[in-house]
Amino acid sequence: MEQTFIMIKPDGVQRGLVGEIISRFEKKGFSLKALKFVNVDRPFAEKHYADLSAKPFFNGLVEYIVSGPVVAMVWEGKGVVATGRKLIGATNPLASEPGTIRGDFAIDIGRNVIHGSDAVESATKEIALWFPEGVVHWQSSLH
Ligand code: CMP
Repeated sequence: MEQTFIMIKPDGVQRGLVGEIISRFEKKGFSLKALKFVNVDRPFAEKHYADLSAKPFFNGLVEYIVSGPVVAMVWEGKGVVATGRKLIGATNPLASEPGTIRGDFAIDIGRNVIHGSDAVESATKEIALWFPEGVVHWQSSLH
């Protein structure tokens, strides 16, 4: 079954949007497969955004991602990569449709609340980077 990587960025966490965002993915019908609340360091953020390293905003983007804890998640379901991106809305919140997460909660491209993988291949890479331990299985338990 298709999976995608979703990250609630530091502004989304600070603004108390974690529950709202999780709720939207749940209500759509997707399944949460993994979740962690973490701080990432610069080298890790640079790895996550490696494809953007030549962009003029790269440095600011990395600073933003390391500025506070993020919620990293794996969601699963039919078409979750593309439909997850639809729930999130356009990268520039000013272009995001109302009803989308960015359309409802953001105005600044540099503070756009949430990240979602843009393709199945990037989802696979991002899930491996953020969840090297793998995602949850029904058998998972603490001892
Ligand atoms: P995200 O979906 O995480 O993917 C790459 C991120 O780069 C994007 O969301 C924005 O946060 C950021 N980004 C893209 N374009 C710009 C820009 N022009 N200025 C600042 N940040 C940007």
